[in-house]
Amino acid sequence: MSALFSRDRAAKEQGRLPDGLPPAERLPKHVAIVMDGNGRWAKKRHLPRSAGHRAGVEALRDIIRASDDWGIGHLSIYAFSTENWGRPQDEVSALMQLLLQYFSSEIDELDEKGVRIRILGDVDGLPAPQREAVQNAMARTRDNRGLHLNIALNYGGRAELLNAARSLMRQAAEGALRPEELTADRFAAELYTAGQPDVDLFIRTSGEIRTSNFLPWQTAYAEMVFNETLWPDYTREAYRQDLWTYARRDRRFGKVK
Ligand code: IPE
Ligand code: IPE
Ligand code: MG
Repeated sequence: MSALFSRDRAAKEQGRLPDGLPPAERLPKHVAIVMDGNGRWAKKRHLPRSAGHRAGVEALRDIIRASDDWGIGHLSIYAFSTENWGRPQDEVSALMQLLLQYFSSEIDELDEKGVRIRILGDVDGLPAPQREAVQNAMARTRDNRGLHLNIALNYGGRAELLNAARSLMRQAAEGALRPEELTADRFAAELYTAGQPDVDLFIRTSGEIRTSNFLPWQTAYAEMVFNETLWPDYTREAYRQDLWTYARRDRRFGKVK
């Protein structure tokens, strides 16, 4: 580890985390978060699951602000998976309602900060009001220059890969692509994250150690951090600690250092 890290080395020896943030070159360019544990958070308080989701939105607001303050380039958050349609009808409705509220209450601040919103997932499969809200948010923030905020909604990783494969097969059938011309970059350009860097840091809260179909291609070499905290309790300070955990990792990409 470099001399830049004398601050970190001293902290490590004392068994504590350094103050502040890791140096900029040690920060991830792309963070992906599985915001999990809203239901358990509510249950612990004898509240309905929807109250957990509402509290989760508060936590999300802080983490987006922190990402913007700290110059994280890309933040991908898992908000609703294709599998989540299988939850009880009242929970799905509450989540869809919350989504509408989210866009109407947050869009001004996000736009002011220069955040660029992209939806990862099947937007056409959302109910009309939600579809309109997310399409408006994407259109309104398209030319912004700040944080790239990817909101995974009606998202499934395998579906994303299948869509990419279908599109490439179509191009091949039209004679526009030969098998030997298919590269990783060309494949990645068919994904919802086209043009964005791979995920460097994958965070999941709530103690579950699985990816649940989130960004399988983009996280192939991501550093994984699993956190016991339930999502509504996840704070800017917890995020800062996870950024240090990442900064202290030795990424080798299969090579020898
Ligand atoms: C994550 O929290 C939020 C969504 C999936 C929308 P959960 O609702 O999965 O919370 P737990 O896992 O039941 O605690
Ligand atoms: C993943 O969490 C999806 C989101 C956070 C939106 P889940 O709670 O749905 O995943 P599983 O069921 O634990 O795999
Ligand atoms: Mg869950």
